[in-house]
Amino acid sequence: MVSAVEDISLRINKTERLVLLGPSGCGKSSILKAVAGFIPAASGQILIEGRAIKGPGADRIVVFQEFDQLLP
Ligand SMILES: Nc1ncnc2c1ncn2[C@@H]1O[C@H](COP(=O)(O)OP(=O)(O)OP(=O)(O)O)[C@@H](O)[C@H]1O
Ligand SMILES: [Mg+2]
Repeated sequence: MVSAVEDISLRINKTERLVLLGPSGCGKSSILKAVAGFIPAASGQILIEGRAIKGPGADRIVVFQEFDQLLP
């Protein structure tokens, strides 16, 4: 089993904007996929306004760069 992300802990408040920066393969997309509800976290928890993420929801939007969805 690949461990894509380990020991991450952060809190993002409503008015904050967060940028995840790091080298290729460090786990940025995996974090976003877990927050989006596309993949479950193997351990720990991700909460939105106190509620655990159980799957994708209309309160989250993710644009992945793999699908040519971004403007040039
Ligand atoms: N479906 C998968 N199966 C196996 N390993 C995976 C899978 N998805 C990601 N990984 C591995 O998990 C780690 C984190 O990958 P991830 O795609 O989250 O990195 P990233 O920071 O988004 O990279 P990039 O900047 O290239 O987009 C890498 O070692 C990657 O090879
Ligand atoms: Mg990525």
